[in-house]
Amino acid sequence: MRSAPSNVSLTGIKPTGEPHLGNFIGAIKPSLRLAESYESIYFIADYHALTSIRDPKLLAHYTRSVAATWLAAGLDPERTVFYRQSDVPETFELHWILSCFTSKGLMNRAHAYKAARDRNQEAGIADLDSGVTMGLYNYPVLMAADILIMESDVVPVGKDQLQHVEYAADIAGAFNAVYEGGYKFKIPEAITPSEDSGRSLPGTDGRKMSKSYGNTIELVAPEAQLRRTVRRIATDSTPVEAPKDPEASSVFQLLTHFATPEQVAEVRARLEAGGMGWGELKNELFAVLNEQLTPLRERYDALMRPDSELEEILRAGAERACERAQPVVAQVRETVGIG
Ligand code: TRP
Repeated sequence: MRSAPSNVSLTGIKPTGEPHLGNFIGAIKPSLRLAESYESIYFIADYHALTSIRDPKLLAHYTRSVAATWLAAGLDPERTVFYRQSDVPETFELHWILSCFTSKGLMNRAHAYKAARDRNQEAGIADLDSGVTMGLYNYPVLMAADILIMESDVVPVGKDQLQHVEYAADIAGAFNAVYEGGYKFKIPEAITPSEDSGRSLPGTDGRKMSKSYGNTIELVAPEAQLRRTVRRIATDSTPVEAPKDPEASSVFQLLTHFATPEQVAEVRARLEAGGMGWGELKNELFAVLNEQLTPLRERYDALMRPDSELEEILRAGAERACERAQPVVAQVRETVGIG
Protein backbone atom coordinates (compact mmCIF):
# COMPACT_ATOMS: atom_id res chain seq x y z
CA MET A 1 0.00 0.00 0.00
CA ARG A 2 1.11 3.55 -0.76
CA SER A 3 2.12 5.45 2.34
CA ALA A 4 0.41 8.75 2.90
CA PRO A 5 2.23 12.05 3.40
CA SER A 6 2.42 13.06 7.04
CA ASN A 7 0.95 16.10 8.78
CA VAL A 8 -1.78 16.86 6.35
CA SER A 9 -4.19 19.51 7.58
CA LEU A 10 -7.54 19.71 5.82
CA THR A 11 -10.53 21.94 6.24
CA GLY A 12 -13.73 22.67 4.36
CA ILE A 13 -15.41 26.04 4.04
CA LYS A 14 -19.15 26.02 3.48
CA PRO A 15 -20.19 28.78 1.04
CA THR A 16 -23.45 29.89 2.61
CA GLY A 17 -22.97 33.65 2.85
CA GLU A 18 -20.72 36.63 2.30
CA PRO A 19 -17.64 36.27 4.52
CA HIS A 20 -17.68 38.66 7.50
CA LEU A 21 -15.20 39.91 10.07
CA GLY A 22 -16.13 37.05 12.44
CA ASN A 23 -15.12 34.49 9.77
CA PHE A 24 -11.93 36.44 9.13
CA ILE A 25 -10.82 36.47 12.78
CA GLY A 26 -12.25 33.09 13.80
CA ALA A 27 -11.43 30.96 10.75
CA ILE A 28 -9.56 32.60 7.88
CA LYS A 29 -6.64 34.11 9.78
CA PRO A 30 -5.97 31.10 12.07
CA SER A 31 -6.25 28.70 9.12
CA LEU A 32 -3.79 30.71 7.05
CA ARG A 33 -1.38 30.72 9.98
CA LEU A 34 -1.77 26.96 10.34
CA ALA A 35 -1.06 26.49 6.64
CA GLU A 36 2.50 27.61 7.35
CA SER A 37 3.24 24.56 9.51
CA TYR A 38 1.24 21.82 7.78
CA GLU A 39 0.82 20.42 4.36
CA SER A 40 -2.55 22.09 3.94
CA ILE A 41 -5.60 21.22 1.92
CA TYR A 42 -8.50 23.70 1.97
CA PHE A 43 -11.64 23.36 -0.09
CA ILE A 44 -14.97 25.04 -0.71
CA ALA A 45 -17.67 22.61 0.44
CA ASP A 46 -20.22 23.59 -2.22
CA TYR A 47 -22.22 20.36 -2.05
CA HIS A 48 -22.54 20.77 1.72
CA ALA A 49 -24.05 24.21 1.09
CA LEU A 50 -26.75 22.60 -1.07
CA THR A 51 -28.42 21.41 2.13
CA SER A 52 -29.46 25.01 2.74
CA ILE A 53 -28.96 27.15 -0.40
CA ARG A 54 -31.67 26.50 -2.98
CA ASP A 55 -31.00 29.43 -5.28
CA PRO A 56 -28.59 28.29 -8.04
CA LYS A 57 -27.22 31.77 -8.75
CA LEU A 58 -26.62 32.38 -5.08
CA LEU A 59 -24.85 29.05 -4.55
CA ALA A 60 -22.57 29.74 -7.53
CA HIS A 61 -21.94 33.28 -6.28
CA TYR A 62 -21.10 32.29 -2.70
CA THR A 63 -18.78 29.57 -3.98
CA ARG A 64 -16.75 32.07 -6.03
CA SER A 65 -17.00 34.76 -3.40
CA VAL A 66 -15.71 32.56 -0.59
CA ALA A 67 -12.88 31.23 -2.77
CA ALA A 68 -11.93 34.80 -3.80
CA THR A 69 -12.00 35.93 -0.17
CA TRP A 70 -9.58 33.25 1.00
CA LEU A 71 -7.21 33.98 -1.86
CA ALA A 72 -7.48 37.74 -1.25
CA ALA A 73 -6.76 37.15 2.45
CA GLY A 74 -3.46 35.49 1.56
CA LEU A 75 -4.08 31.81 0.84
CA ASP A 76 -1.25 30.72 -1.44
CA PRO A 77 -2.63 28.21 -3.95
CA GLU A 78 0.89 26.97 -4.70
CA ARG A 79 1.45 25.90 -1.10
CA THR A 80 -2.11 24.92 -0.22
CA VAL A 81 -4.17 22.54 -2.30
CA PHE A 82 -7.26 24.69 -2.84
CA TYR A 83 -10.29 23.39 -4.71
CA ARG A 84 -14.05 23.04 -4.95
CA GLN A 85 -15.45 19.89 -3.37
CA SER A 86 -17.71 19.25 -6.39
CA ASP A 87 -14.63 19.07 -8.63
CA VAL A 88 -13.54 15.87 -6.88
CA PRO A 89 -16.31 13.42 -7.82
CA GLU A 90 -14.58 10.54 -6.02
CA THR A 91 -15.75 12.21 -2.81
CA PHE A 92 -19.34 11.28 -3.61
CA GLU A 93 -18.45 7.72 -4.48
CA LEU A 94 -16.63 7.41 -1.16
CA HIS A 95 -19.64 8.97 0.57
CA TRP A 96 -21.75 6.00 -0.53
CA ILE A 97 -19.15 3.44 0.45
CA LEU A 98 -18.75 5.02 3.89
CA SER A 99 -22.50 5.18 4.40
CA CYS A 100 -22.48 1.37 4.20
CA PHE A 101 -20.23 1.33 7.27
CA THR A 102 -22.00 4.03 9.23
CA SER A 103 -24.54 2.96 11.80
CA LYS A 104 -27.82 4.80 11.57
CA GLY A 105 -27.84 5.24 15.34
CA LEU A 106 -24.70 7.36 15.10
CA MET A 107 -26.45 9.69 12.66
CA ASN A 108 -29.54 9.85 14.90
CA ARG A 109 -27.31 11.34 17.59
CA ALA A 110 -25.75 14.02 15.37
CA HIS A 111 -26.13 17.52 16.86
CA ALA A 112 -27.48 19.26 13.75
CA TYR A 113 -30.07 16.56 13.14
CA LYS A 114 -31.14 16.52 16.79
CA ALA A 115 -31.42 20.32 16.75
CA ALA A 116 -33.76 20.14 13.74
CA ARG A 117 -35.97 17.64 15.59
CA ASP A 118 -35.96 19.79 18.73
CA ARG A 119 -37.12 22.78 16.69
CA ASN A 120 -40.03 20.73 15.36
CA GLN A 121 -40.91 19.59 18.85
CA GLU A 122 -40.89 23.17 20.17
CA ALA A 123 -43.08 24.25 17.26
CA GLY A 124 -45.57 21.51 18.13
CA ILE A 125 -45.02 19.65 14.84
CA ALA A 126 -45.92 15.99 15.36
CA ASP A 127 -43.49 14.56 12.78
CA LEU A 128 -40.14 15.45 14.30
CA ASP A 129 -38.40 14.69 10.99
CA SER A 130 -40.52 17.23 9.17
CA GLY A 131 -38.32 19.36 6.89
CA VAL A 132 -35.28 17.13 7.45
CA THR A 133 -33.73 16.04 4.15
CA MET A 134 -31.43 13.08 3.67
CA GLY A 135 -28.80 15.70 2.81
CA LEU A 136 -28.99 17.12 6.31
CA TYR A 137 -29.08 13.63 7.78
CA ASN A 138 -26.10 12.36 5.75
CA TYR A 139 -24.12 15.57 6.11
CA PRO A 140 -21.59 14.01 8.53
CA VAL A 141 -20.96 11.08 6.15
CA LEU A 142 -20.12 13.46 3.29
CA MET A 143 -17.83 15.34 5.64
CA ALA A 144 -16.14 12.06 6.60
CA ALA A 145 -15.59 11.40 2.88
CA ASP A 146 -13.98 14.86 2.48
CA ILE A 147 -11.62 14.19 5.35
CA LEU A 148 -10.73 10.54 4.70
CA ILE A 149 -10.26 10.86 0.95
CA MET A 150 -7.32 13.23 1.52
CA GLU A 151 -5.78 11.04 4.24
CA SER A 152 -5.90 14.00 6.62
CA ASP A 153 -4.06 13.93 9.93
CA VAL A 154 -5.62 17.00 11.45
CA VAL A 155 -8.79 18.93 10.77
CA PRO A 156 -8.90 22.51 12.06
CA VAL A 157 -12.52 23.31 12.88
CA GLY A 158 -14.66 25.39 15.20
CA LYS A 159 -16.14 23.72 18.27
CA ASP A 160 -19.47 23.23 16.48
CA GLN A 161 -17.77 20.84 14.05
CA LEU A 162 -15.94 18.65 16.59
CA GLN A 163 -18.57 15.94 16.58
CA HIS A 164 -18.31 15.67 12.80
CA VAL A 165 -14.58 14.99 12.97
CA GLU A 166 -15.15 12.38 15.69
CA TYR A 167 -17.71 10.76 13.42
CA ALA A 168 -15.20 10.65 10.58
CA ALA A 169 -12.76 8.87 12.90
CA ASP A 170 -15.48 6.42 14.00
CA ILE A 171 -16.54 5.65 10.46
CA ALA A 172 -12.92 5.15 9.38
CA GLY A 173 -12.43 2.75 12.29
CA ALA A 174 -15.56 0.80 11.39
CA PHE A 175 -14.30 0.31 7.82
CA ASN A 176 -10.75 -0.51 8.90
CA ALA A 177 -12.01 -3.21 11.28
CA VAL A 178 -13.85 -5.13 8.56
CA TYR A 179 -11.14 -5.83 5.98
CA GLU A 180 -8.07 -7.67 7.13
CA GLY A 181 -5.17 -6.74 4.89
CA GLY A 182 -7.28 -4.13 3.07
CA TYR A 183 -6.88 -0.40 2.72
CA LYS A 184 -6.74 1.38 6.07
CA PHE A 185 -8.09 4.89 6.40
CA LYS A 186 -5.98 7.29 8.37
CA ILE A 187 -7.74 8.28 11.61
CA PRO A 188 -8.17 12.07 11.67
CA GLU A 189 -8.03 14.34 14.69
CA ALA A 190 -9.72 17.71 15.15
CA ILE A 191 -7.82 20.78 16.19
CA THR A 192 -9.77 23.73 17.51
CA PRO A 193 -8.71 27.37 17.54
CA SER A 194 -6.69 28.66 20.48
CA GLU A 195 -8.48 30.60 23.21
CA ASP A 196 -7.44 33.90 21.70
CA SER A 197 -8.78 33.41 18.20
CA GLY A 198 -11.80 31.70 19.78
CA ARG A 199 -12.59 34.94 21.62
CA SER A 200 -15.69 35.77 19.70
CA LEU A 201 -16.15 38.98 17.85
CA PRO A 202 -19.19 41.12 18.69
CA GLY A 203 -21.57 42.04 15.88
CA THR A 204 -23.31 45.38 15.32
CA ASP A 205 -25.89 44.57 18.04
CA GLY A 206 -23.33 43.45 20.63
CA ARG A 207 -24.13 39.74 20.34
CA LYS A 208 -21.60 37.32 18.80
CA MET A 209 -21.16 38.23 15.12
CA SER A 210 -23.12 35.66 13.18
CA LYS A 211 -24.97 35.49 9.90
CA SER A 212 -27.99 34.07 11.72
CA TYR A 213 -28.30 37.21 13.88
CA GLY A 214 -28.02 39.56 10.89
CA ASN A 215 -25.39 41.58 12.78
CA THR A 216 -22.34 41.01 10.60
CA ILE A 217 -19.80 43.41 9.17
CA GLU A 218 -18.89 42.15 5.72
CA LEU A 219 -15.24 41.65 4.98
CA VAL A 220 -15.13 42.94 1.42
CA ALA A 221 -18.02 45.42 1.35
CA PRO A 222 -17.38 48.70 -0.51
CA GLU A 223 -15.87 51.44 1.63
CA ALA A 224 -19.10 53.45 1.93
CA GLN A 225 -20.98 50.38 3.14
CA LEU A 226 -18.27 49.56 5.66
CA ARG A 227 -18.53 53.11 7.03
CA ARG A 228 -22.32 52.86 7.32
CA THR A 229 -22.16 49.49 9.07
CA VAL A 230 -19.60 50.74 11.59
CA ARG A 231 -21.83 53.78 12.26
CA ARG A 232 -24.69 51.41 13.06
CA ILE A 233 -22.89 49.49 15.85
CA ALA A 234 -25.01 49.78 18.98
CA THR A 235 -23.66 52.05 21.74
CA ASP A 236 -25.19 53.42 24.94
CA SER A 237 -25.98 57.08 25.60
CA THR A 238 -22.98 57.91 27.80
CA PRO A 239 -22.10 61.55 26.98
CA VAL A 240 -18.83 62.42 25.22
CA GLU A 241 -17.18 63.89 28.35
CA ALA A 242 -17.96 60.91 30.62
CA PRO A 243 -15.30 58.25 31.35
CA LYS A 244 -16.18 54.96 29.63
CA ASP A 245 -15.49 51.31 30.28
CA PRO A 246 -13.72 50.09 27.12
CA GLU A 247 -14.44 46.43 27.92
CA ALA A 248 -18.17 47.05 27.79
CA SER A 249 -18.04 48.52 24.29
CA SER A 250 -18.43 46.37 21.16
CA VAL A 251 -16.73 49.07 19.10
CA PHE A 252 -13.68 48.87 21.33
CA GLN A 253 -13.74 45.06 21.30
CA LEU A 254 -13.72 45.12 17.52
CA LEU A 255 -10.85 47.58 17.54
CA THR A 256 -8.71 45.29 19.70
CA HIS A 257 -8.81 42.65 16.98
CA PHE A 258 -7.54 44.92 14.23
CA ALA A 259 -5.51 47.78 15.72
CA THR A 260 -1.90 47.61 16.92
CA PRO A 261 -1.34 47.17 20.69
CA GLU A 262 -0.15 50.80 20.83
CA GLN A 263 -3.31 52.09 19.14
CA VAL A 264 -5.45 49.98 21.47
CA ALA A 265 -3.64 51.26 24.57
CA GLU A 266 -4.02 54.85 23.48
CA VAL A 267 -7.74 54.55 22.75
CA ARG A 268 -8.30 52.67 26.02
CA ALA A 269 -6.65 55.49 27.98
CA ARG A 270 -8.71 58.14 26.21
CA LEU A 271 -11.99 56.31 26.83
CA GLU A 272 -11.21 55.80 30.48
CA ALA A 273 -10.22 59.45 30.93
CA GLY A 274 -13.44 60.74 29.34
CA GLY A 275 -13.67 63.12 26.38
CA MET A 276 -13.76 60.49 23.65
CA GLY A 277 -17.28 59.94 22.33
CA TRP A 278 -18.67 56.85 20.59
CA GLY A 279 -18.73 58.70 17.28
CA GLU A 280 -15.02 59.38 17.44
CA LEU A 281 -14.33 55.79 18.50
CA LYS A 282 -16.30 54.58 15.51
CA ASN A 283 -14.29 56.82 13.20
CA GLU A 284 -11.15 55.30 14.65
CA LEU A 285 -12.47 51.76 14.11
CA PHE A 286 -13.53 52.56 10.56
CA ALA A 287 -10.08 54.00 9.75
CA VAL A 288 -8.28 50.93 11.14
CA LEU A 289 -10.60 48.48 9.37
CA ASN A 290 -10.52 50.35 6.10
CA GLU A 291 -6.76 50.52 6.08
CA GLN A 292 -6.45 46.77 6.62
CA LEU A 293 -9.30 45.71 4.40
CA THR A 294 -8.67 47.96 1.39
CA PRO A 295 -5.88 45.83 -0.13
CA LEU A 296 -7.91 42.69 0.57
CA ARG A 297 -11.00 44.22 -1.04
CA GLU A 298 -9.00 45.22 -4.11
CA ARG A 299 -7.62 41.72 -4.60
CA TYR A 300 -11.11 40.31 -4.02
CA ASP A 301 -12.70 42.62 -6.60
CA ALA A 302 -10.06 41.66 -9.16
CA LEU A 303 -10.64 37.94 -8.54
CA MET A 304 -14.42 38.33 -8.83
CA ARG A 305 -14.21 39.71 -12.38
CA PRO A 306 -15.51 37.13 -14.84
CA ASP A 307 -12.17 36.90 -16.70
CA SER A 308 -9.98 36.63 -13.58
CA GLU A 309 -7.61 33.77 -12.80
CA LEU A 310 -10.02 32.41 -10.16
CA GLU A 311 -11.38 29.59 -12.32
CA GLU A 312 -7.89 28.57 -13.37
CA ILE A 313 -6.68 28.49 -9.76
CA LEU A 314 -9.59 26.29 -8.71
CA ARG A 315 -9.16 24.05 -11.72
CA ALA A 316 -5.47 23.54 -10.99
CA GLY A 317 -6.31 22.85 -7.34
CA ALA A 318 -8.91 20.29 -8.36
CA GLU A 319 -6.33 18.51 -10.47
CA ARG A 320 -3.99 18.16 -7.50
CA ALA A 321 -6.88 17.10 -5.24
CA CYS A 322 -7.97 14.41 -7.72
CA GLU A 323 -4.43 13.09 -7.89
CA ARG A 324 -4.67 12.41 -4.17
CA ALA A 325 -8.26 11.19 -4.12
CA GLN A 326 -8.13 8.75 -7.02
CA PRO A 327 -5.57 6.28 -5.60
CA VAL A 328 -7.38 6.28 -2.24
CA VAL A 329 -10.72 5.46 -3.79
CA ALA A 330 -9.10 2.88 -6.08
CA GLN A 331 -7.69 1.07 -3.04
CA VAL A 332 -11.01 1.30 -1.20
CA ARG A 333 -12.86 -0.13 -4.21
CA GLU A 334 -10.41 -2.98 -4.44
CA THR A 335 -10.71 -3.62 -0.72
CA VAL A 336 -14.50 -3.95 -0.86
CA GLY A 337 -14.45 -6.03 -4.04
CA ILE A 338 -15.71 -3.55 -6.63
CA GLY A 339 -13.40 -4.04 -9.60
N1 TRP B 1 -19.24 21.33 7.95
C1 TRP B 1 -18.21 22.32 7.89
C2 TRP B 1 -18.81 23.67 8.34
O1 TRP B 1 -20.00 23.84 8.28
C3 TRP B 1 -17.64 22.46 6.50
C4 TRP B 1 -16.97 21.21 6.05
C5 TRP B 1 -17.37 20.37 5.06
C6 TRP B 1 -15.75 20.67 6.57
N2 TRP B 1 -16.50 19.35 4.91
C7 TRP B 1 -15.49 19.49 5.83
C8 TRP B 1 -14.88 21.09 7.58
C9 TRP B 1 -14.37 18.70 6.11
C10 TRP B 1 -13.75 20.29 7.86
C11 TRP B 1 -13.51 19.10 7.11
O2 TRP B 1 -18.09 24.54 8.73
